[in-house]
Amino acid sequence: MYVFKRIVTMTLMCSFSLWASQSVGKYQLAEKISDEALQSWNISVFPDGKNLPEGKGDYHSGKKLYENLCVACHGENGKGGIKLDPYRGAIDTLVKRKGDKLTGEKPKKSIGTYWQYAPLLFDYIRRAMPYQAPKSLSNDEVYALTAYLLAENGIISKKTVISKENLAKVKMPNVNGFICDNRVDTKSVPCMKNCPLPDEKSFNEGVLADETDHLKSDCLVQPNIKFSGE
Ligand code: HEC
Repeated sequence: MYVFKRIVTMTLMCSFSLWASQSVGKYQLAEKISDEALQSWNISVFPDGKNLPEGKGDYHSGKKLYENLCVACHGENGKGGIKLDPYRGAIDTLVKRKGDKLTGEKPKKSIGTYWQYAPLLFDYIRRAMPYQAPKSLSNDEVYALTAYLLAENGIISKKTVISKENLAKVKMPNVNGFICDNRVDTKSVPCMKNCPLPDEKSFNEGVLADETDHLKSDCLVQPNIKFSGE
């Protein structure tokens, strides 16, 4: 009996260590990761729709999902919720409110005004929402929620089924309302001894302007998208 027990224990130990070394071994430093394993991280969707996954969803399934998973934080129909400001009312809501314009000088913040390209909305919801359980939604669910939020903002019809094929073709109303932020960067050299106090003249001397215009070069990259109806 004793010997038998030893054998069982040893077998268990061996199989455990084999399992442990296999699962650890898979991702050792400098070891090539398989394409399949990489795919679960490779979820960035681009403005022109590149890397959107297979799947589809419509307004009605999106509405149901919204009411179960999102309403607690974003309010009924996306018009309230966490971004309610006690002094200014609902700002930064997901859905525009009646009468709000989606373009112009300073449109109120909503998906309709502050999202330049529709595929990025898919990307954001898939990777970040619901807030307490990111990456928990299926691709079909994310397509449905995207369709729901775009339709509630008046950007697509409630009948449009959203998928990989048509999401990038949805023209966001304020796509041309963004400006390039090419303000000069600054960098500061840390002071280590005899440092001036904030009210001394030499206080800001360590702050240097970095004239390399990093942002301007980024701004020149405009995705080439054929929106439907153009
Ligand atoms: C527990 C609260 C919570 C839940 C539930 C939640 N969200 Fe959010 N959501 C947030 C917070 C907080 C932010 C702001 C995050 C930030 O700015 O970093 C946000 C931001 C967003 C934004 C970006 C808004 C913008 O324009 O800046 C979208 C879109 C969004 N949520 C969609 C959803 C959807 C769809 C669901 C349901 C699947 C959902 N959220 C569920 C808390 C929540």
